[in-house]
Amino acid sequence: MLTKAPKGTMDILPEISYKWQYIEDEIRRICRQFGVKEVRTPVFEHTELFQRGVGDTTDVVEKEMYTFNDKGDRSITLRPEGTAGAVRSFIEHGMFNNPQPTKLCYLISCYRYEKPQAGRYREFHQFGVEYFGTQNPSADAEMISLPWTLYKRLGLTGLTVNINSIGCPVCRKEYNEKLKDYLRARYDDLCDTCKNRFDRNPMRILDCKSPICKDIVKGAPLLIDSICEECSTHFETVKKYLTSMDIPFEIDPYIVRGLDYYTKTVFEITAKNENSNGTICGGGRYDGLVEELGGGSVPACGFALGMERLLLTMQEQGIDIPDTHKLDIYVGHIGDENAMFAQKLVADLRSLGICADRDHLGRSVKAQMKYANKLGVKYSIILGDEEIAGKKVNLKNMDEGTQKEIELSAEIIAKNIVKE
Ligand code: HAM
Repeated sequence: MLTKAPKGTMDILPEISYKWQYIEDEIRRICRQFGVKEVRTPVFEHTELFQRGVGDTTDVVEKEMYTFNDKGDRSITLRPEGTAGAVRSFIEHGMFNNPQPTKLCYLISCYRYEKPQAGRYREFHQFGVEYFGTQNPSADAEMISLPWTLYKRLGLTGLTVNINSIGCPVCRKEYNEKLKDYLRARYDDLCDTCKNRFDRNPMRILDCKSPICKDIVKGAPLLIDSICEECSTHFETVKKYLTSMDIPFEIDPYIVRGLDYYTKTVFEITAKNENSNGTICGGGRYDGLVEELGGGSVPACGFALGMERLLLTMQEQGIDIPDTHKLDIYVGHIGDENAMFAQKLVADLRSLGICADRDHLGRSVKAQMKYANKLGVKYSIILGDEEIAGKKVNLKNMDEGTQKEIELSAEIIAKNIVKE
């Protein structure tokens, strides 16, 4: 138990972490290009934030939160997602006073007490973006284009963007009554969870995974057919903007999303040869959430994508991630008496921007080179009495097996190293 990570969590080991860093670098680049700035919020928040924000009829709040009382007897919850915390921060720091829109992003760990399986964990990581302060449909479309562009740049294929509109509180209220009228005849056949949803949040029944409920909702009226004119015009314009950016999409009237805050646009991105765990990205507009959490009336929209699911999908699609963290040079030395010279040279090379390392185990020079080979280092040198006295050294290109004699100085060695 002591030497096993808790169920649903995992270590990201050095042989994998370079892949995370590669993707995170790409994420940071794309955020800069979209004018999106990072916000870092706490891992835990007051429980009420998620109850009010995510919605207390959602699976996340009802069943999946890691909630505890701290020593001051406050109810605290490990964040199950990033939107509520970003909204709290937006309100707390008066970001609505800044010129709008405010475009925020986060790369965070999240916690949900779910049944662990491939692509579903209890601790997982999200990259998310939130746009505040604009109700323009162009913001919805640009926000959807961000993960799409990221996935494309990372080489993913077979992606589908599924979009829907779930209207505003006004048209949804009317629709909920229509839906309940339709479902009432088969109420007894609904699963227990959906019976519970019937009065509290009937729209979520459309999203139930139980085969019987799926069958029941097949002929149900669809919200997309009942949305008001304003919501409909908004949705049509989002579609036009997506088309103008060459982003293919499909309309899926059954997307309702598992969190309560959405209004108008909702979307999910799925990958074709994906593991069985649903979407790799999801989000939408949430025009009422800032106000619900105590801020002014500020429209907003955003998305979050799962980092683990992204990596799994890349792996399934055979996409190679280059390991850009390999050392440039290994500085071998013969005899203990030259160890300090080697250490100083490594320090000088590092200060010149070269990734360099040397032995710390007192290995023979042969064993040092064997180790360098294992690390996949591109260049190596060996420092013996002769090299140090003559101020000349052989720089070996380990990939090509070639070598050339150069002056033994950090500057000259650095100049001769060709970085990938
Ligand atoms: P969500 O659909 O609950 O939305 O989560 C977004 C993504 O996080 C999912 O598409 C999936 O890739 C990943 N994910 C969710 N749960 C797990 C899990 N247990 N294990 C692994 N990955 C998981 C949200 O969280 C919203 N806050 C998105 C949003 C932002 N909407 C507006 N702004």
